[in-house]
Amino acid sequence: MSSVAVVTGASSGIGAATARRLATEGFHVLAAARRTDRLAALVAEIEAAGGAATAVACDVTSDESVAGLATAAAALGPVTLLVNNAGGARGLDPVESGSVDDWQWMYDVNVLGTLRVTQALLPALEASGAGTIVVVSSTAGFTVYEGGGGYTAAKHAQTAIAGTLRLELCGRPVRVIEIDPGMVRTDEFGLVRFGGDAGKAAAVYAGVAEPLVAEDVADCVAWCATRPQHVNVDRLVVRPLAQAAQHKVHRVG
Ligand SMILES: NC(=O)c1ccc[n+]([C@@H]2O[C@H](COP(=O)([O-])OP(=O)(O)OC[C@H]3O[C@@H](n4cnc5c(N)ncnc54)[C@H](OP(=O)(O)O)[C@@H]3O)[C@@H](O)[C@H]2O)c1
Repeated sequence: MSSVAVVTGASSGIGAATARRLATEGFHVLAAARRTDRLAALVAEIEAAGGAATAVACDVTSDESVAGLATAAAALGPVTLLVNNAGGARGLDPVESGSVDDWQWMYDVNVLGTLRVTQALLPALEASGAGTIVVVSSTAGFTVYEGGGGYTAAKHAQTAIAGTLRLELCGRPVRVIEIDPGMVRTDEFGLVRFGGDAGKAAAVYAGVAEPLVAEDVADCVAWCATRPQHVNVDRLVVRPLAQAAQHKVHRVG
């Protein structure tokens, strides 16, 4: 029986790429998100390529929905990997005028979503005897920037969960890995951030020859998750070559 890897936010971007990649690594992927039509297409694609995957509708902001995710995972086999990827940003407003609703959404999905899903899956991960929890945070988890107050606050909190959990689980068979990507060009991250404004979303990557793509982050997740179980990659920071720091991006033209 294959090990089960649960990937949240698998309906697009980094989550979908991670699901595809983990299937090629031999995991039975449990792909979770709210948009089930997209998940169904992803599962069909993975199966057509010879992999194993199952879709489950899950809203990480709902206790009941996340409980259903844990039940679905346990029914598939030993759960050895959880990738907490669901998340995102809303708005690029200064703190003085930022929308409380946007901040609430970012906190609910990135922070409390990670907490809720981790709590629900931890018993199965521990029972497997070789569990791994990946938290997809961000370089925003350790850096702040103008207009990023809500997102960086949420990602700092998500990073704090990863660090705290690693300390608390020391001596138990579950490792905790934090992956912090810089600029990744995905189809929806910018659209979600800018309320569907494609121009503003595209401007983030203007002149950057090669931002990271979702598959680059999936590659990092897969590499960390397939190290021998005694090897814990605490934190992996990954950026495009053109981005030396949050504020230092090489743009052409
Ligand atoms: N793109 C970047 O530059 C970048 C950089 C660093 C870190 N990250 C982080 O990487 C992760 C993925 O980003 P991405 O670029 O792949 O963004 P994306 O394409 O917008 O994907 C976000 C995913 O989260 C899911 N999601 C949102 N709300 C949810 C909820 N309430 N319950 C369950 N799933 C939910 C979405 O699925 P549904 O809408 O179908 O539910 C979607 O699959 C995020 O945590 C993001 O903060 C991104």
